[in-house]
Parts: sequence; structure tokens; C-alpha cells
Amino acid sequence: MTNFDKINVKHENKFIRHDPNMLNSVYGTTNVEPYWVADMDFEVATPIRDELLRLAQRAHFAYEFNSQDVLKAIVDWYQRRHDLVLKQENLVQVPGVLTGVAMLIRELTKPGDGVLIQTPVYHQFKKVIGSAGREVLRSPLQVIDGHYRMDFDDLEQQFSSGKVKVMLLCNPHNPVGRVWTQDELAQLLKLARAYQVFIISDEIHSDIIFAGHSFHSMAGFTGENFASLIGSPSKTFGMQSISNGYIYSANQDLLAKTKASLDSMYLGHSNVLSNYATIAAYTQGEIWLDEFLQYLENSINWIQDFLQQELPQVRLYPVEGTYQIWLDFSNTDLPAEQVKQLLVDARMALTPGAWFESGNELMFRMNIASPLAQIQEAFKRLQQKLSA
Ligand SMILES: Cc1ncc(COP(=O)(O)O)c(C=O)c1O
Repeated sequence: MTNFDKINVKHENKFIRHDPNMLNSVYGTTNVEPYWVADMDFEVATPIRDELLRLAQRAHFAYEFNSQDVLKAIVDWYQRRHDLVLKQENLVQVPGVLTGVAMLIRELTKPGDGVLIQTPVYHQFKKVIGSAGREVLRSPLQVIDGHYRMDFDDLEQQFSSGKVKVMLLCNPHNPVGRVWTQDELAQLLKLARAYQVFIISDEIHSDIIFAGHSFHSMAGFTGENFASLIGSPSKTFGMQSISNGYIYSANQDLLAKTKASLDSMYLGHSNVLSNYATIAAYTQGEIWLDEFLQYLENSINWIQDFLQQELPQVRLYPVEGTYQIWLDFSNTDLPAEQVKQLLVDARMALTPGAWFESGNELMFRMNIASPLAQIQEAFKRLQQKLSA
């Protein structure tokens, strides 16, 4: 049984999340607990660590091709975990998810073409589209009955304008925590097909799904030529700095072009540490993941109850997936700057909502992949600050 409760672990100052310079520049102090960058405080699963230790004891680091073993581990994982049969030959490896997104955007669009995102969304999306010289188009998510939804009318309007060549979907959605349903995805694909919009589905959070919800991959829609998934074990298993990623597409033309571009830049494989760690994660990490999900659910339940009873002015959106929770401070009736300062005073370094789209200044994203006792103390401090 993994101990997720270990507290006061000394983290490296070079970790972005814990880096004093970074904390100072964003929060004006180092005296905060980091709940911002989306990696975790927990130790990786023992099989991953054992595998890395085994490799570290090697005396040789010769060229080694083990991509096929990685791809097989990915295929087996999807079958076991998501009941989805992927064809190994439709997968290509990339160094990380954003690399995969950047590659596909370049394959599918020309400079100046429009790439649509559903805001608020993971802030690097704008950067990856903009730095490719493509135009960022936005379809804001709607909040209906306290739930974030896709705005299908707006999507249809924008798709039909002919300006949108590609849509970059976040599935599940960071930061709002939605796990898109089969019906929502089918409706989206219907529109995409009708208007020839290609969907790139970033599925990096696909394994962090809570009870009552199920993940549906874009790759699960049979014969689908208008979508492609990009995934990675890095969020699931806390392997951010030994990242690995993969693109899956049933579109043979796109697949061939992507493979050729990757090969031309010698990017179509990862390093041996990432590869063996990925294989260990996908073949032996399942027990750890189930325990991790249980731990997170318990933390979410505690946070929900605490907010309901002690801090009803802070609203938590339903957490269907991801270890990011999305908190709304509008009912505190405080200006955004003051909320930000109160959070810092409570020593909580949360990600400002405006990073994900302006207009979300009273929203904050909290990464809850930390020991619950630490999170509990943080919320208690916040309660004191908010009621002072
Ligand atoms: C939706 C999403 N995509 C991609 C990434 C980054 O992926 P990578 O580090 O593999 O490029 C993140 C990290 O937070 C993310 O939330």
C-alpha cells in the first residue's frame, strides 16, 4: 500500500513547482505551499523507481531501440484500462504531449489558419498555437446549472465560418475538471465532420477519472478520420521530467506525414530512461494508480464537505477528472487582487484563473496531488483569513 500521507518531504529547489525564484516571481513570497504546477508531491510507483534504479546501475548507455515495446505497453494499457483496442501501427512516439500538439498543428494547418480552443483551458495551448504562427480562436465553455458545457451553437457558427481548420480539445478538460461524455464527443465529431474541422484531442489526463464518470477517447470513435489523440503516462504516474508521449491517428495520410516529419528531426523516439519507465508504469503501475485515485477521491470529498460547511462562499465545480480543482471566489464579493492576497496569506499558491483566459480573475486552480493533511491545514488557514 502506497503511503500518500508522507508530509514535509524535501523537494528539490530546481523543481519548477518548488523553485523559490519562481514562487517569488508569481506570488511575491516563498512562504507558500505550491498547489500550482500540475505535477505531484507523491513518490512514483515502486516498479517505476525500481526500473530506473536498474537502469542507473547499467555501465553502458548504448543506442537502444525499444519503441515497439513502449507502443505495445500503451496498446495493452488502453485495452485493459479503457476497453479500447488501438492498432499499434497507428501510434507514433513523441517526446511529450505539447511536442505532439505542435507537430500536428504544423501538419494540419498553414500559418495564419485558425485553431480553436475552448476557454478557459490549459494556458500553454494558446502559446503552442501562437508560436506556430496560427490564429488562436476561442469558443468559451458555458456554465449551465453549475456545470461547464461545450457551446455547440457557437462551435457550429465558428466551424461554418470556414476559419477553423483545427480544434484543440482538452479531454478531460484542464482546468475545469470535466470528463467529456460519449454524447458530447459524438456531437462534437458530427460538427467536425460536417465542416471538415480536424480535432486534436489532448488526452494527457485520461487516467485520472473519478467514480461515476468514464473517459472516452477520440480514438474510440470507429473509422474516425477527423480526430487524433495525444497521450502520455506523465500526469498519471508523476513522470513529468522523464516525459514521453504518443500520437494516435487512424488517418493514414496524416500518420505518414507526421512520422516523416518526426523522423526528419530525429524526434520519433524517446530516451531509454523514459521508455523503460513508461513500460514499467503501464505494465506494473496499475495498483499504484488505483490507490492514487482512491486517495484523490477521499481528498475531494473532504474539500467538498469543508467548503459546504465552513466556506460556502467558495464554490467548487464538480470534479469529474484530473487532479486539478477549479474554485470560484466570486461569492466572496471581494476584488480579485484581494482574493489573491488572501490565498497567499493562507500560504496557498494556486494558479490564477486568468492564466487560462481573461475574465476568470476570481477563479483559481488548485492541484490536489498533495498529502490530505497538508491540504486540510491549508483550507483551515484560508477559512481564518476569509473570516478575519
Ligand atoms: C492538457 C495538458 N496538455 C499537456 C500538458 C503538458 O504535457 P507535456 O509535459 O507532455 O508536454 C499538460 C500539463 O499540465 C496539460 O495539462
